[in-house]
Amino acid sequence: MTQQIVLTGITTTGTPHLGNYVGAIRPAIAASSNPEVTSFYFLADYHSIIKCQDPQRVHRSSLEVAAAWIALGLDTERSVFYRQSDIPEIPELTWILSCVTAKGLMNRAHAYKAAVAENEAGDSKDPDKGITMGLFCYPILMAADILMFRAGRVPVGKDQIQHLEMARDIAARFNHLYEPLFVLPEAEINAQAAVLSGLDGRKMSKSYNNTIPLFAPEKKLRQLIMKITTNSLPPEAPKDPATCTLFQIYQAFATAEETADLRRRYAAGIGWGEMKQMLFAYLNDHLAEPRRRYQELVDHPDHVEQLLARGAEKARAHSRPMLDAVRRAVGIRALGS
Ligand code: TRP
Repeated sequence: MTQQIVLTGITTTGTPHLGNYVGAIRPAIAASSNPEVTSFYFLADYHSIIKCQDPQRVHRSSLEVAAAWIALGLDTERSVFYRQSDIPEIPELTWILSCVTAKGLMNRAHAYKAAVAENEAGDSKDPDKGITMGLFCYPILMAADILMFRAGRVPVGKDQIQHLEMARDIAARFNHLYEPLFVLPEAEINAQAAVLSGLDGRKMSKSYNNTIPLFAPEKKLRQLIMKITTNSLPPEAPKDPATCTLFQIYQAFATAEETADLRRRYAAGIGWGEMKQMLFAYLNDHLAEPRRRYQELVDHPDHVEQLLARGAEKARAHSRPMLDAVRRAVGIRALGS
């Protein structure tokens, strides 16, 4: 039986929130305990500087994301957990891949096209206004992340499917031109992972500014839960769990039995104030222990740094020989050899 390689990157531009946890972090940590799988999880900090030119934020977010994954139980011995910028082979591979990637393929990337469309709709007559080469080449860096480690399965959100198709295109092009060194990766969309709504009822997302940080201090957590939008039904009226953000967040953490129990209370009529208090107490209880570990890690960045250094060492045991093979394939090697 061959080991399956699962790989995903986390862009370091924000603070992990409840939606990140149930949608990505929890399923990734669960997947990494499967003995048939080798997981590579990394902080995509070279991707983050495309979107975010605030150095403090990029730096702080790297610490927060790393600390969150570790506090939530990622086993950094079993999986390979590293920071993209610690792997110098990745930008080198990015360059080589750039030389087999059609510019026309990048012209079709959704994120780039959306930026151009926005310029064209606005006052500026320059379609390229504010668009960097980093944004334009984003999919090539992402292809290098994936192809470097021969990952077959890449868990991502729906918005990343096109990037995976591009990675396959780029890999196939290289394999055809030179040698079949690359595995063609598949996007893996987790249909079971819950998509949480945020404070205003829209999908919880940092771009909507409606998130609940996973490790908000107790007082802040209570405040945010009290802010979640509800309808204006009186306490005694039966409530519909299907359209209720409070119910949905509870369900993402609770057991099937606890959820069934709450469903009955909704049918019988429950006051929003009481429900919010209950949700707060439940979440606070569940998050208290990982929050304590998280705080401990954030207060000891050297320890996180050590774990990442160890991860980089493990990752480079793969990336060094891989880049070497790629360089040879394109004709870059010592003279006389
Ligand atoms: N682009 C991904 C996102 O925004 C992050 C990412 C970077 C990634 N490199 C990756 C995801 C490689 C999967 C594989 O979510």
